[in-house]
Amino acid sequence: MNIALIQQVKSQFLELYKKEPILVFSPGRINIIGEHTDYNDGFVFPAAVDKGIAAAISKSDSGKSTAHALDFESTVEFDLDKLKPSKEGSWENYVFGVVAEIQNRNKVIGNFNIMFAGDIPAGSGMSSSAALENSVVFGLNELFNLGLSKHDMILISQKAEHNYVGVNCGIMDQYASMFGIENNALLLDCRTVKSKPYEIDFKDHQLMLINTNVKHSLSDSAYNDRRSACENIAGLLNIKALRDATESDLLAVKDEVTPENYQKALYVIQENDRAVKASKAIEENDLETLGQLIYASHDGLSNQYKVSCDELDFLVDLAKSNQEVLGARMMGGGFGGCTINLVSKAEAKAFADTASKAYRKQFNKDCSVYFVQLSQGTHLV
Ligand code: GLA
Repeated sequence: MNIALIQQVKSQFLELYKKEPILVFSPGRINIIGEHTDYNDGFVFPAAVDKGIAAAISKSDSGKSTAHALDFESTVEFDLDKLKPSKEGSWENYVFGVVAEIQNRNKVIGNFNIMFAGDIPAGSGMSSSAALENSVVFGLNELFNLGLSKHDMILISQKAEHNYVGVNCGIMDQYASMFGIENNALLLDCRTVKSKPYEIDFKDHQLMLINTNVKHSLSDSAYNDRRSACENIAGLLNIKALRDATESDLLAVKDEVTPENYQKALYVIQENDRAVKASKAIEENDLETLGQLIYASHDGLSNQYKVSCDELDFLVDLAKSNQEVLGARMMGGGFGGCTINLVSKAEAKAFADTASKAYRKQFNKDCSVYFVQLSQGTHLV
């Protein structure tokens, strides 16, 4: 957790509102494996990290509510009774969406002021949006004693994303951000929304993120399209979600779907299987197998699910050519953001340097390297 970030938000809040706020820290997440499986009721393997959103919040007696995004130097004032989504891409939709979803559950909140700042690079695929949504719902729950459970809160955050942001996301990001455990990754069953923690200690290996610093447009609509394609195929198979299908079930409807969508559904079935196998590999401390599963995940994301991009593929290819990197893949929704790499501790820095130079040469821009700590989920500070 970034103490300086919390101090900054607190002092700016005090300066502007002259009132002691409640402080919340809500983390972003990484995901070891299990990508685009969450909205297919499948398995994912995320962990909360030490980067996230710091929010300060208190009741307002001015008759209005305000939200202040320090990173964008932007403030919005709003009326709790007249909420509607702002134009697409506006940061305030994360705040409005959460408020509206709380109200939809017949919970009553009064006016409030919220101020926040973050240290998750935008578009990095580390879920700054879920971190923000969770900080808002968590803060409001405290402030107005709403009696919401953490499970209620993540469903509110997810609905905010669906209805106000326009991304029909699964539950992985909100779950990992809310329920994260220090030094652990969570094998989450997205059907039961229950997880099993795995203490992560890769001994002489570690996880390293490389951010392409790109986010290609249309990623939201591409995301929603893929989700619909998966749901349509599940419908054809007469099952609730692709989680329930085997490769041979899928084969039976091959002629009824486009070759592209067939590959996408096949990817989901295989990725779900890989997530479960990865948890076994971790239990057995078999990092070679884990690494192979991670590379195979990228292959599927790139060639079957088609959510990668040149920059991500380039970084994964570089990793493959280095024996000290056991596995690498794109992480999150795709079309940009980070790769996650399982790399030997001794070689991590050298690989980061080589990758950075090669990336600059290839794309004429810089990538960024992060080492993250697996951390506690959304909490009061
Ligand atoms: C985004 C979504 C998640 C999940 C991932 C892909 O991060 O918010 O719900 O679907 O993409 O695994």
